[in-house]
Amino acid sequence: MQVLYGVGLGPGDPELVTLKALKILRRCHTIFLPDGGGKGGGRAYRILRDLDSSLLAKAIRLPVPMGRSGPEVWRRLAGEVIEGVLSKSPCAFAVEGDPMLYGSFITLRREIIKQCDRVRVEVISGIPSFCAAAARLGKPLASGRESVAILAGPLGGRELEAFFRDHDTLVLLKANTCLRSLEEFQRAHAEEAEVWLVEDCGLPTERVTRMNEKEADGWGYFTLAIVERMRGKGP
Ligand SMILES: C[S@@+](CC[C@H](N)C(=O)[O-])C[C@H]1O[C@@H](n2cnc3c(N)ncnc32)[C@H](O)[C@@H]1O
Repeated sequence: MQVLYGVGLGPGDPELVTLKALKILRRCHTIFLPDGGGKGGGRAYRILRDLDSSLLAKAIRLPVPMGRSGPEVWRRLAGEVIEGVLSKSPCAFAVEGDPMLYGSFITLRREIIKQCDRVRVEVISGIPSFCAAAARLGKPLASGRESVAILAGPLGGRELEAFFRDHDTLVLLKANTCLRSLEEFQRAHAEEAEVWLVEDCGLPTERVTRMNEKEADGWGYFTLAIVERMRGKGP
């Protein structure tokens, strides 16, 4: 059976790539990388370059759609990856963060499984961005019987309110799409909640701040928010 590994590269710091991911990437004949068309060739490409630039010799960047797109685009991308794996196995599709959390690998994996039963898809977990951000902030995501909601923007104010009613911590990916809602939420809940923004966690361009009106603009795609209920306890 030919094998495609979906490999998580972690949030951006090459030292947070797992040993298992590195070992598998070194064994693979081709490393497919999603390229959403932004500057720098994609986040996964940059992590791979900083991890071990010799791996770039077997990298192929795939132009993946960033928003919603028709099924034919994914069918074609899956076809390209299947062709690569069938001609020389194993191959990898390497993504930032963890492959099973909001991203191109999820759609691609579904399409590959649908199209071809001669390729086995295995997943190698990576450190998700929000775990790295919680570590960076020194803020536990949950303990005891507390709950966390992991969400992706865009989200409106009412949705934020509803999730905050039901959970102790909210993690919001693609936070750049709903900065106004977050700002209003912070203003309305100044006594009960802290909203933190983290951009480019673990990279030299990292930015971390507690949300306030002055900081509500100019955050890029690689920004997440952590909404923490103030629990009146120590660190
Ligand atoms: C399509 S999701 C992919 C999530 C990824 N699979 C993971 O495990 O973190 C992209 C979102 O992840 C978040 N993200 C990824 N890397 C990040 C980083 N280094 N710092 C802050 N946010 C990051 C941002 O919210 C971004 O909009």
